[in-house]
Amino acid sequence: MKIAPSVLTADFSNLKHELQSIETADYLHLDIMDGHFVPNISFGPAIAKTISQSTHLPLDIHLMVTDPIRWVQPFAQSNPVFMTIHVESSDVEKTLKLIHEHKIKAGISLKPKTEIEAIIPYLDQVGLVLVMTVEPGFGGQGFMDSMLVKVERLVQIRKQKNLDFQIEVDGGINLETIKRCKESGVDIAVAGSYLFNMSDRKKGIESLK
Ligand code: DX5
Ligand code: ZN
Repeated sequence: MKIAPSVLTADFSNLKHELQSIETADYLHLDIMDGHFVPNISFGPAIAKTISQSTHLPLDIHLMVTDPIRWVQPFAQSNPVFMTIHVESSDVEKTLKLIHEHKIKAGISLKPKTEIEAIIPYLDQVGLVLVMTVEPGFGGQGFMDSMLVKVERLVQIRKQKNLDFQIEVDGGINLETIKRCKESGVDIAVAGSYLFNMSDRKKGIESLK
C-alpha cells in the first residue's frame, strides 16, 4: 500500500519539521478547498509551491473547488505528479485535458453520495481515481465503510476494460480501516489526522504500509 500523508492537519507553524517527519511516505497529498465546493478554505498556489520546495515527495493535489479549470495553471507551478478534480465540479472534460497539457497525470474524485456511474465516462482519461471515504472538507472524520463497494467496482472495471488508473482513498484512514482498504484493492491511502497526531510518524507510515 502506498501512503500519501495529507498536510491538512499538520502544524503549519512548523511545516518544515512536519514535512521532514513524513519523508518516508510515497506521495504528499495537498487538499485545496475554495470555501464554496466544500464548507472550508485551506491554502492556495503560493503555499503549495513553498511546500513543493520543502519536500522530496511527489505531490498529489486534490482540488475541492467549484471551478477547477481556473486553478490548473496556478497549481501546476508546484509540479505535482497528480492533479485530481471532482466529477461534481464544472467543465470536467476540458479540465482533464488542460491538466494533461501541463504534463501532469489527471485524477477524478467522487463524493460519498455520488454514484460510481458518474465517473465511468472519464476512466480512460485518468491516471488516478480518488474515492472519498468521508464528506470532503475536514480532516478527522470517521471512515465510511460502504465506500469500499466503489473500490471493488473500480478494480473490476479496470480489469474488464484494461485500464491503468490507480485507486486512492481519502478520509478516515487508520490502522484498522486501511486493512479493509487493502482487501478491497486500494493502491494509495491518504492519511491525515491519524499520522499527524502521532509522534513517531516514520513508524506510523511503516505500519500503514
Ligand atoms: C478531506 C480531505 C482529506 C483529509 C483526510 O476533505 O480531502 O484529505 O485531510 O484527513 P483524515 O485522514 O484526518 O480523515
Ligand atoms: Zn484529500
